[in-house]
Amino acid sequence: MHESVLLTESIDYLNLNDKSIIVDCTLGYAGHSSQILKQIPNGYLYAFDQDKEAIKEADKKLKAIRNNYEIINTNFVNLKEEINKRIDKVDGILFDLGVSSPQLDEADRGFSFHKDAPLDMRMNRDQSLNAYDVVNTYSANDLTKILKTYGEEKYANSIAKGIVKAREVKPIETTLELTEIIKENVPEKYRRVGHPARKTFQAIRIEVNDELNVFKNALKDSLDLINKGGRICVITFHSLEDRICKQIFNEVSKLPKELQNLPIIPDEYKPKFKIIANIEPTKEEIERNPRSRSARLRVIERS
Ligand SMILES: C[S@@+](CC[C@H](N)C(=O)[O-])C[C@H]1O[C@@H](n2cnc3c(N)ncnc32)[C@H](O)[C@@H]1O
Repeated sequence: MHESVLLTESIDYLNLNDKSIIVDCTLGYAGHSSQILKQIPNGYLYAFDQDKEAIKEADKKLKAIRNNYEIINTNFVNLKEEINKRIDKVDGILFDLGVSSPQLDEADRGFSFHKDAPLDMRMNRDQSLNAYDVVNTYSANDLTKILKTYGEEKYANSIAKGIVKAREVKPIETTLELTEIIKENVPEKYRRVGHPARKTFQAIRIEVNDELNVFKNALKDSLDLINKGGRICVITFHSLEDRICKQIFNEVSKLPKELQNLPIIPDEYKPKFKIIANIEPTKEEIERNPRSRSARLRVIERS
């Protein structure tokens, strides 16, 4: 079961009315999409996911509500192109980033360092690059760079060297083999603060799915798709995603520094968006659903 994070808050901030046209970029198991669909009987929902297994389950749930929706089985990097084939502008766009609980829990997907599985980590299983390729073919330098930038892992260098040394003996095939190598290449004390493999797994997952570039491009495109008064809601799960969101939202909602002291701002220079919210889950939600611990919801509105 996937328990949706910041569900009530994100749905409230979408400001739905019965005719809203909404895009859910991350359908998953339709937690958010089901709530949206219930509130837009005369509107329409377009929902993206690149994971066929999630789509199968989500479609059953949505069908039971109403049929004013379309599921688009592709990476949300294609958001603008796909939406513009169907419609010009929409009233709300939601991103609930990362992987879902079922993706983490299904051992054979290889996302979890707790469960033994082949190194995979692809959200889209039709894609060719997987975690096995990253771990077994990237140079020590590239691995270090990835672990540093996508994992903010302070032992990136020694973990990368450990990986390269281990694969000289035999290919690294499973999540638990990789976890053992990570443990052997970090200091004893580091093993006591959180799980030592967490950051490395995050980094490899981001690399396999090219998550940060994809999100940055899609979020920029979503700015062009939103109607006046429409909102973009983004739920992120780590600081790298959140930084991208914060930066893009600030760029489009703040006056450039050189114009800030002008007594009158010409219309064409006025920011096109305004920031509506920047919130974290409540203590109660974090207690109920520990996965929400690092989540943050940011919302902007087209002025
Ligand atoms: C956190 S889950 C969403 C959960 C959903 N909001 C719910 O309440 O059930 C993220 C989902 O987005 C999908 N996803 C992540 N990145 C994607 C991308 N770039 N393109 C398409 N789908 C993506 C994943 O496959 C996963 O199913």
